[in-house]
Amino acid sequence: MTDLDRTRLAALLEAEQAAYSENHPRSRDLFDEATNLFGRVPMTWMNMWSGGFPLYLERARGNRVTDVDGCTYVDFALGDTGAMAGHSPAATVAAVQRRAGELGGITTMLPSEDAQWVGAELERRFGMPLWSFTLSATDANRWAIRLARLATGRPKVLVFAYCYHGSVDEAFALPGPDGKAESRPGNVAPPVDLDLTTRAATWNDLESVEAALAHGDVAAILTEPALTNIGIVLPEPGFMDGLRSLATRYGSLLMIDETHTFSAGWGGAIREWGLQPDIFVIGKSIGGGIACGAYGISRDVADAVTRHTEAGDADIVDVGGVGGTLAGNALSTAAMRATLDEVLTPAAFAHMSDLATTFTAGVQATLDELDVPWSVSRLGARAEYRFARPAPRSGEESAAAADDQLDAYLHLAMANRGILMTPFHNMALMCPETTRADVDLHTEVFREVVGALFR
Ligand SMILES: Cc1ncc(COP(=O)(O)O)c(C=O)c1O
Repeated sequence: MTDLDRTRLAALLEAEQAAYSENHPRSRDLFDEATNLFGRVPMTWMNMWSGGFPLYLERARGNRVTDVDGCTYVDFALGDTGAMAGHSPAATVAAVQRRAGELGGITTMLPSEDAQWVGAELERRFGMPLWSFTLSATDANRWAIRLARLATGRPKVLVFAYCYHGSVDEAFALPGPDGKAESRPGNVAPPVDLDLTTRAATWNDLESVEAALAHGDVAAILTEPALTNIGIVLPEPGFMDGLRSLATRYGSLLMIDETHTFSAGWGGAIREWGLQPDIFVIGKSIGGGIACGAYGISRDVADAVTRHTEAGDADIVDVGGVGGTLAGNALSTAAMRATLDEVLTPAAFAHMSDLATTFTAGVQATLDELDVPWSVSRLGARAEYRFARPAPRSGEESAAAADDQLDAYLHLAMANRGILMTPFHNMALMCPETTRADVDLHTEVFREVVGALFR
């Protein structure tokens, strides 16, 4: 196994940083001038881009992004999945123009026909019979968690260490001593002690799940079908089925968030793997870049909620904590309809998955050739390399393999050679416009920049 030479890494990183700074004077100037923005960026995560300042967007189409310095990139970040349909897909743009311009009525608090079409399509893909819309996956999770608590009369949510489900207070938890959940490092001012709202378990460890559920206070297990926010950590055979059985045995709901794992296929991982959640959550990509999100619930969950709303002890029609003014608006639902109908089609998924398979093989070939102690995982159209071999089995193992210096080097070296990887770890996503030549470019550049490191 080849060892990493930190001195060499530091020198390579410095050279990439200098090249990045030199090649992007306009982005650097704009960043320096942005003194009226908190952290100098429109949203604080935009400081995640390595290199001291982010690239400023000029334009983007398909899987190409051009910055204000005139550099064009093959984009594998795709807005961290928000642009899985590609940037500004033609069908989505046409539907948005029609609704916003021709018809008018971006947001009216009135239903439009599109929402019904989208609900039926989401049922066809993911199987849940009843749908409601939001403007983000975070909100879909938040509102669905409230419904899960109402339906079960239980206070807690079970999550996995190093999961991410948006800025959902309950989810920033790690398993602590005595079976109590504790706050994850960096959690910004949690409103209450996490132990009051959450139980935390370890991914791929059904014993830890059972121990948490046995307390009898878990309303829902909230999980992705594969962890995707600490690298990709795939479920081992039997793990997802085990979650379903344990949830049923202990009277908890199974809530599956496919915001990222939708990459697994046209009907997400739940269709690919035959999973049966009680609540389903999705967001980001299904509106082709227009703000959207959705949750689907089973009839049993709906009935349990309705019993409370009819009894008058919960209000989902007025300001009871579920819903939002702009959610389900006509622009968002028009965008979802066009994107699902014409862009994120079965043929698009087949193409994207094939390319991700080639991407993964290209990365693996370099790792094998240079005997690099890393691994690469794939979930449909998404692939990710991680600095551990064998691939981590849990969030804790994957977190232990994190390396900010390596991340920074790889991100910058890629950007300097015309490739954008997601700024969070090393995820690459294919979109319908990604080509074999784009993937081959990554394979070549990956060999070059990893080769420079493990000479
Ligand atoms: C699995 C999952 N759920 C929910 C979210 C939250 O999405 P948003 O930030 O669009 O609300 C994310 C964001 O990365 C996610 O990865």
